[in-house]
Amino acid sequence: MKKTVFSCSECGRIQSKWSGSCLSCGSWNSFVEEVAREAKKVFSHAKAVSLTEITFDENNRQKVSIAEFDRILGGGAVLGSLILIGGEPGIGKSTLLLQAAQAFADQGLKVLYVCGEESLQQTSMRAKRLGVKSNNLFLLHETLFDFVKEQIEEVGPKAVIVDSIQVMYKEEILSSPGSIVQVKSTALEFMKIAKSKGIILFLVGHITKSGDIAGPRVLEHIVDVVLDFEGDKERGFRVLRSLKNRFGSTEEIALFQMREGGLFEIPNPSSAFLEGRIDEAIGSVVVPTVEGCRAILVEAQALVTKSIFPMPARKSTGIDGNRLALLIAVLEKRAKFNLHNSDVFVSIAGGLKIVEPAIDLGLAVAIASSFSGRMMDCKTVVMGEVGLGGEVRSISKVELRIREASNMGFQRCILPKRNLQNLAGDFKIELIGVDLLDEALRLFT
Ligand code: TYD
Ligand code: MG
Repeated sequence: MKKTVFSCSECGRIQSKWSGSCLSCGSWNSFVEEVAREAKKVFSHAKAVSLTEITFDENNRQKVSIAEFDRILGGGAVLGSLILIGGEPGIGKSTLLLQAAQAFADQGLKVLYVCGEESLQQTSMRAKRLGVKSNNLFLLHETLFDFVKEQIEEVGPKAVIVDSIQVMYKEEILSSPGSIVQVKSTALEFMKIAKSKGIILFLVGHITKSGDIAGPRVLEHIVDVVLDFEGDKERGFRVLRSLKNRFGSTEEIALFQMREGGLFEIPNPSSAFLEGRIDEAIGSVVVPTVEGCRAILVEAQALVTKSIFPMPARKSTGIDGNRLALLIAVLEKRAKFNLHNSDVFVSIAGGLKIVEPAIDLGLAVAIASSFSGRMMDCKTVVMGEVGLGGEVRSISKVELRIREASNMGFQRCILPKRNLQNLAGDFKIELIGVDLLDEALRLFT
């Protein structure tokens, strides 16, 4: 008789008896019965190799031939790697991967697109909309892992796209598709296939409400690359961010715009993000931010209005709410702005999420501008980190930021005074160094 165990479908905890709630993750009614894995006899084992004998052949990379995508992967996709792409429903994961499939197929590589979520008709209709068409591109509507594996053997593709990992299941596991146990074990199987056959394997993963890919980040340890697809749905900007990359940097981002006909690369992000900006606007400040090796100009917008509630609202889009609370406190205490009975809304236009503190000064100036009804000259950019004492702290990669502002036709740059001292290079833009937040606020027109 086969031995069975009980596993929690939320966190994967294994125990010998069923119980109503899980001791590890606290979820209720999550235990399902499974056949226990038998220990296998090991016939061969790995041997230690000298470090100097191991080489990484750059030929192991296959360019997707979508420049932004290649850059975020570290110069192309590594053969035999498992790449997870996560994002909210409707953000464009299937679109991006179908376009990538076409790009691979155009280079003469066979691609298998496993559309487990949508029917063959739905996927082929999307392909038609995108102008995707190739004899090298194969579609498969299947969710049972063993059959997918069989088709991979039969077709012999160089790249496989699994859309999505949450619908894949193995028959011998009794939990439902999408449960942690299923997701984890099918992903592990796909990993084996990728490594043993040298296939580039993309997995699409849905983001749960809490923002994790398939629950408690189980997949992130298994895969080689984790990419997160985000953006603002209205204006169509999409940002592909690398959260983990065993073969490249995680600092880069890739920028796309969703239009009729699919995702398009954005050749000049600064002008795209500043598009639609009104000159001479109160509460608006242009800030240079750095993503990887690129500086991008974005518009920080603030709106301060008198609150009618005892607890004023503080809302932020694109920046951390705690950071906003801190900046408001600094403005109150150090610059004597009475914001305690005002609602404050801030946002980064275009849907980019910014975590670096170099944007602090720009945000503080935008809030002060909206509060006081005065404005920053429209040809000025503002950058700097703001400390709790109202001091403006130095930031990294200043030259990159200044050059971008100058290239985009800006005439003045307000920056931390400390950065001014060791600045390398000649800039065709007026540089104004400030030590305190107060000094920046005196520069309103
Ligand atoms: P999709 O790739 O299906 O998202 P996901 O796989 O992440 O759920 O993208 C769906 C959205 O993209 C849908 O709302 C329509 C839009 N879209 C376009 O605007 N243009 C296009 O050419 C395509 C194919 C989709
Ligand atoms: Mg999809």
